[in-house]
Order: sequence, then structure tokens, then C-alpha cells
Amino acid sequence: MSIIKLHDKYFKTYITKEKIEEAVHILVEQISKDCKGDTPIFIGILNGSFMFVADFIRQYKYNCEVSFVKLASYQGTNSTGKIKQLVGNNENLEGRTVIILEDIIDTGNTLQEIYKIFKDKKVKQLKIATLFFKPDVFKKDLPIDYIGISIPDKFIVGYGLDYDGIGRNLANIYQLTTEPTMKNVVLFGPPGAGKGTQAGLLKEKYGLVHISTGGMFRTNIKDETVLGILAKSYMDKGNLVPDEVTIEMLKAEVNKIPDAKGFIFDGFPRTQSQAIALDIFLEEKGETISGMVALEVPGTLLIERILERGKTSGRTDDQDEIKIRTRFSEYDTKTAILKEYYEAQNKYFGINGVGTIKDITKRLSNVFDKL
Ligand code: IMP
Ligand code: MG
Repeated sequence: MSIIKLHDKYFKTYITKEKIEEAVHILVEQISKDCKGDTPIFIGILNGSFMFVADFIRQYKYNCEVSFVKLASYQGTNSTGKIKQLVGNNENLEGRTVIILEDIIDTGNTLQEIYKIFKDKKVKQLKIATLFFKPDVFKKDLPIDYIGISIPDKFIVGYGLDYDGIGRNLANIYQLTTEPTMKNVVLFGPPGAGKGTQAGLLKEKYGLVHISTGGMFRTNIKDETVLGILAKSYMDKGNLVPDEVTIEMLKAEVNKIPDAKGFIFDGFPRTQSQAIALDIFLEEKGETISGMVALEVPGTLLIERILERGKTSGRTDDQDEIKIRTRFSEYDTKTAILKEYYEAQNKYFGINGVGTIKDITKRLSNVFDKL
């Protein structure tokens, strides 16, 4: 659930996979009821319908056949140019119940061509089912027997539908949106990697707002905000603060600065459910996470560094090697999940975190410049 870029355009979630699943289920129920005792032949119109047909057929419990056709344009030998031809239709359909499965009906031009061809095949009955339908643009005098979801005249992509060739593999349906304007970065790094220092430098350099979860908690508790009091009630009992409380705090923090050029999130998200909540929240604002930038430092090096710091810092958790190792393994488990989460969106950037402060700022800046 996050804004995505396909070719030159940006898209936001419009119909979730759960809603699609529900619509497919209803179509299956209706068609099963109407085809009782018959063995219908379902004909999917390629390319877009492959996903809908697969999900539909999987749920259809009675005998049926499945086939696909494609309406292809080819260059005719005469001067009139393009001629439409139906490819893949070689079944004998005489006396059969034929149900055309379409992913989307827009103007109905495609369907009209196909309908004409099938009408001549002495079928018992010919019906049309479409998952998506744009009633405002449909101008044809054709019966559409089953409609999954009617939508306004807006371009959509995902669940089999493409934008100039790509996007068919997306599980949700997306619609066009404007280009995000913020630079929002999730900064990650193991304890002792110098994340706080780098966040401070980068915030100045790029004019961003730095939100550290630790700082956010401390301020809310000190100011006795509703969320601060709630968070403290968990902490006092030795329990972890639930994700929902942390997320609400973060939203409030972001909403305080509506004209920000972007944010550096430090210490958030920590779990996949937090990452999903952040994506949904930003998407509602027409914004998105530009990238997760992670400082990669070998554990052994950090242990030395932290033990060294422990000699003077007085922090007991900096003096015990076993405790430090626990912190690392906890960090590794957590980042692994988030790394995968952002990698799946092509938004993970790992940076070598070994070097001087200046070196590392330089490396981080190279990534920040591109986000
Ligand atoms: P028609 O206008 O009903 O003939 O639709 C023609 C074809 O355009 C459909 O089969 C789809 O492949 C494609 N199409 C129509 N609307 C959309 C859309 O919103 N997104 C992606 N493809 C679409
Ligand atoms: Mg189609």
C-alpha cells in the first residue's frame, strides 16, 4: 500500500486485493447458480484477463472448460491498414454455454468485435462477465450479464491490467496520482553505527525534519500528552508499547509540520506492521517513502567500539559483551524483515558504515541526492 512508479507515472492503491477477491467470489456464486447442470466454457480475453480467469476458475466448483482468445491487430496487405483477428479460437462451440470473461470493459470496442465472432457459432447461449466496468464510457448496445466492480472513467493498473506493458503482476488495483513532492527517508543502522550523528548532518544539508522515535517518546511523556501517558502506562509495567500507540504518535509528529520538505525517520518503522501503517498514512497524503537507507557495519567492529564507549559512558548495557550481542541479534532479525519489505519496493539502499563521519556522510549523500 504505497505509491508506485511505472514508467513516467505515479499510481496509488485504489482497489485492494481483498475487495477484488470479494468481487470475484460474488461473480463465481452468480454464475454457478445460473449454470447449474450445464458445463459452461469460459473464454478469457487475453492478455489482461489471465489473473481474473485463474482466480475465478479456482473457485468454480462444477464442471467447466476454459479457453483463451486474443484479439490481435496485424498489418493487412491492403492499404486500409490494421485488421483485427481473433487468435486461439478453435473450439467447436455449437450448442454450448459460452461465458466470456473480461478483465475490464471500457468503451466496449474490443468486446463488440469478439461478440460478433462468437454470435455466429450457433452457441446455446453467450454471456459476458467482466471484473471491472466503466459505465460512463461504455457506449455499445451489448448485454453485460455479470459485473464485478463498476468504476469511474479513470485509468487503472494491476491485477492483470497493464500500463504500457508493465504492472500486470500487482496484486492491488492502482490509479493515477500526482508525483510525490517530499523526500522521506527511513534511516537504519545498528546500535553504535553513528546514526544520530548522520541524521543531524543530513537534516541540515537537505532541509528535512528528523524524527527519532526515542526523542518522540521522551517528549510525549514529558509533556504528558494523551499518547505519552498511554505509552508510559505500558512502559511502567515493563511491557512494550503497542505498535498502534507508536504509529499514532508518529502521525501526530508528521502532521505538526504540514509544509515539511520531507522527513528522516530514525528508529521507525521497527516492525513490518509499522512499515505498512507508515505506507498507508503517507499514501493518503499523496506521499511515499523515498527509500530506506541502512548503514551496514560488521558486528565485531561495533562490539569493540561500544565496549570502548562503555569504559567512559557509564551505560551498563555498553559494558557487557553478551548484552551487546543480544542487541545486535535483535537488530539483525528486525532489519532483515524491513530490508525485505523495502527491497520488494526497490527502495532499499545499503551503505558501507565503516569509515570517518565525513566519509559516511558523503556515501549517504550520494543516495539522498537520488531519492
Ligand atoms: P475497450 O475500450 O472496452 O475496448 O477496452 C480495450 C482494452 O483497453 C481493454 O481490454 C484493456 O486491455 C484496455 N483498458 C481499458 N481501460 C483500461 C484501464 O483503465 N487500464 C488498463 N487497461 C485498460
Ligand atoms: Mg482486455
